[in-house]
This record gives sequence, structure tokens and C-alpha cells, in this order.
Amino acid sequence: MRVEESLDPSGTCQDEVSRRLVGAAYELIARRYLLARHQIGAAILDADGGVHLGLHLDAMVGRAAICAEAVALGTARMATHTALVAVAAVRFPKPTEDGPARIVPPCGLCRELLLDHAPDLSVVLTGRCVALADLLPDKYVGTKWPTTASDCPERSVMDFRTPEVDKLAAEVIPEEFFELSAEKARDVYFADTRMLDGKQLAHNRYRTNPRSLIDHLVEQLELSGTETLLDIGCGNGFVLEHLRPHLADGHIVGLDIAPGVLRAAEARLAGVATPCEWVEGSADDLSLFGDHAFERVIATYMMHYVPDIDRCLAEVRRVLRPGGRFVLTTDRTDSMVEMYEMHFAVLRDMDAPKRLFKATPKARISLANGEEYLRRHFANVELRTWQDQLRFASAEAFMAFYSAHNYCCAASEPGDLGENFFEELHTRARARVEDVIARDGYFALTKFTGSFICS
Ligand SMILES: C[S@@+](CC[C@H](N)C(=O)[O-])C[C@H]1O[C@@H](n2cnc3c(N)ncnc32)[C@H](O)[C@@H]1O
Repeated sequence: MRVEESLDPSGTCQDEVSRRLVGAAYELIARRYLLARHQIGAAILDADGGVHLGLHLDAMVGRAAICAEAVALGTARMATHTALVAVAAVRFPKPTEDGPARIVPPCGLCRELLLDHAPDLSVVLTGRCVALADLLPDKYVGTKWPTTASDCPERSVMDFRTPEVDKLAAEVIPEEFFELSAEKARDVYFADTRMLDGKQLAHNRYRTNPRSLIDHLVEQLELSGTETLLDIGCGNGFVLEHLRPHLADGHIVGLDIAPGVLRAAEARLAGVATPCEWVEGSADDLSLFGDHAFERVIATYMMHYVPDIDRCLAEVRRVLRPGGRFVLTTDRTDSMVEMYEMHFAVLRDMDAPKRLFKATPKARISLANGEEYLRRHFANVELRTWQDQLRFASAEAFMAFYSAHNYCCAASEPGDLGENFFEELHTRARARVEDVIARDGYFALTKFTGSFICS
């Protein structure tokens, strides 16, 4: 075994992803190199930032050897369902060879295999990422697997994050975040359905992923059609309306703290054959329900409002039937980073107060720290991510979406910002978005969301 710092080729890499993967693959093969046994190490990055390693296995009969990339793919798939983003492989020099370890491209067989399992994978070549599909222009496509976007499970985990978006997120998203109260949710933001309607309409109309968040949720819930399901923070019933056909012989309970949206949910599902009940209350007090009353509980984009998150999760656990499933859906704090970049740039132009430069309220419980909360209450917690990109080809459409987000919460706790503050913010933001649309054809918001599956 030889371990020499100078053999590491990660220093030649031009971007952070390549450096990280090449460094990990090198570190593995430098530790495990064995003449005629293990020559190559590989590392695969998943969309949640996890790195999965694989070691090449040589064999007495050459054709029986297994490439490091294939082993890394298996390791990744054992660990997560999340989309795979990039792969790198590093060949360690034989004792008779001079020079550093080399970044090596995947062989033809691995190109076929990797693209079957991760069609959007990038590969590190000469220190930078390129699309693996470009290295296999006429890939074999048989009839064994579904090939349309909506049929293929791997395509349902679409990946819109590029190294540029990641870099922007690292630069733009602050640590500090807005804390919004349940009282304000009840009395102001969700007193009526305006905010929810604006967001939901935009997601339906401007999304790019052919599989919607609802498709993602249905996949996670694994419904047979007869379950009793509780939706805490059900809002205007948008999610329940879509889940309802999957619960044709089941039972639905929608709970929300805000009577305004709860009434809208009730009206929305009026007349459906699945029995529905509507309960006004806070999700951290489920005392109305008996132990093990539900086979499924969902909480979609709402947990950050709940005053006592631990109490709420303990209550969910209590009302969940053994063998049941709780699905908590939330965002990464850098979801829609492009909107935050634009918003902060306008705030800077306006010399706005520092207290407005904060991240989304979902940072209180996000994809980054959600598992910590959930592990205190559930034995099994698994994160499955879902991405999308909203593309607005009209500034007006974007401005409606931006205002439904209370201008990235600047209007949630405005304090005294002066009479014309939001008019000016609106005008300046619109001008910036119009410039982007004129240049690129649309203004894109990259969504990074996901669900924790808990039992
Ligand atoms: C962003 S909306 C999400 C609505 C719905 N789940 C969806 O995804 O369309 C958040 C919802 O949580 C509700 N909410 C806020 N605090 C709550 C609490 N403590 N208990 C129950 N619902 C709450 C709000 O009234 C609002 O309807």
C-alpha cells in the first residue's frame, strides 16, 4: 500500500463537485490498493450531498472483474433512493509506474449501467464534470424497462441542481431565518386562500418536472385505498383533493388552525364519496383522536409554523397505527435560491434594513435538520427528495408568485418600512425579472424539496 499526498489528483479539479469526488475516490484506492486485486476507486454523489464509494474487484478471469463504478452504484442504491448526480473514478499507479494517480473515465459497460440507473449523471473527466450521456451517444435502449418520463421511476427523481445553482445557494442563503407564528398563520396568512392559491397555481402551471409533488407524495404514501388518513395543516384541501381518489374506500380527516382555509377545504371536497371530517385546531394537540386512529398522517409544508414541534411529533406517533406511516414534507432552505438572490439584490439597492435579509421560515425544520427532530420520535426515518424547476416566461406571473410568498417574508413582519416600500420593491423586482426573461426566455426557480418517511 502506498499513500503519498502528491499522488492525489483532486488538486487538478476545476470545480467543487469534481474535487470532492476525486478526493474521495483517491482516498479509498490509496488505502485499499493491492496489486492485481484493487486498482481503481470510485465515488458517486447523490442529490442530498451523500457520497458513496466503490472499490474495483479484479479477478483471475479478467471478464469476471467488477468495475469500481458498478460497486459504487450498488453502494449508493443500498443507502438511498435519491437521484445520483455525479461519479468519479481514480486509478492508483502500479509500483512499476511513475506519476500520480489518474482520473479515469468509465468503461463502455459502466456507461450503459450507470445511465440505466441514473440518466442525468455527470462524470468527472480531466478534472471537470461532463454529462455521462454525452459519452454514450447511441445508448442501447431495450424494451425491458419503461422509457417515458412519467413511467420511469428514475426519471421521477429529476435533478435540476447544477454546480452553478449550488454555488449561488452557498453565497446567497443566510443562516438566520424568519420565525412565523401559528397565530399569524391563523389570523393573517391563511385567513383566506389567497396565498395558497397563488403558490399552488404557479406550481401547476409553471413546473418542469412531469411528475408533480402530488405524484411524489402518492409514491411515498403507498396507499391501498382503504386507509384512514390525517392531514395536519391541510390548508385549502389542495393535497387532499388529489389524494382522495387513492383513498376511495378510506377515510380522510383534515386539520388546520385557520378556519378560513379549512372551510375552503371542506367546500372543495364536498360531495365526494370518501368520508371526510374537518377539524379546527393546532397540530401539537391531537387529543381529539384516540391512540392508533390513523394508518397515514401527512404534514405538508406546515411543521415550521407549529409552536411545539416535539409535542406535535409525539402526538403524531401516538395517533399513528403500528405499521402506519407519517410523511413530513418540507424544503431545503436553498430551495428557489434564484428568487432569494433577486430579492436580496433589490433590498440592497433600496438600502433596506438588515432584519429583512433572512432565509425561509422553513429553516426552522427543513430537509437539513428534520431528521434530528424525527429520530426522537420514530425508529425509522428515511428522506426521499423531489426536485422541480418553475419557469416563468412572464414577469407578471412571477410577480404574483413572489407576492404570494409575501415578498420572501419581507411583508410578513414588515415593521415600519415607510409608505411606498413594497411598491418600490415590486417595481424594481419586476424590472430585474423582465431583464432575465428578455435574456434567457424565462426566469427559473430551482425547487429542492422532499419527504421524510417515518414509521
Ligand atoms: C403553507 S400551508 C400548507 C397547506 C397544505 N398542507 C398544502 O401543502 O397545500 C401551511 C398550513 O399550516 C396551517 N398551520 C399553521 N400552523 C398550524 C398549526 N399549529 N396547526 C395546524 N395547522 C397549522 C396553516 O393554517 C396553513 O393552512
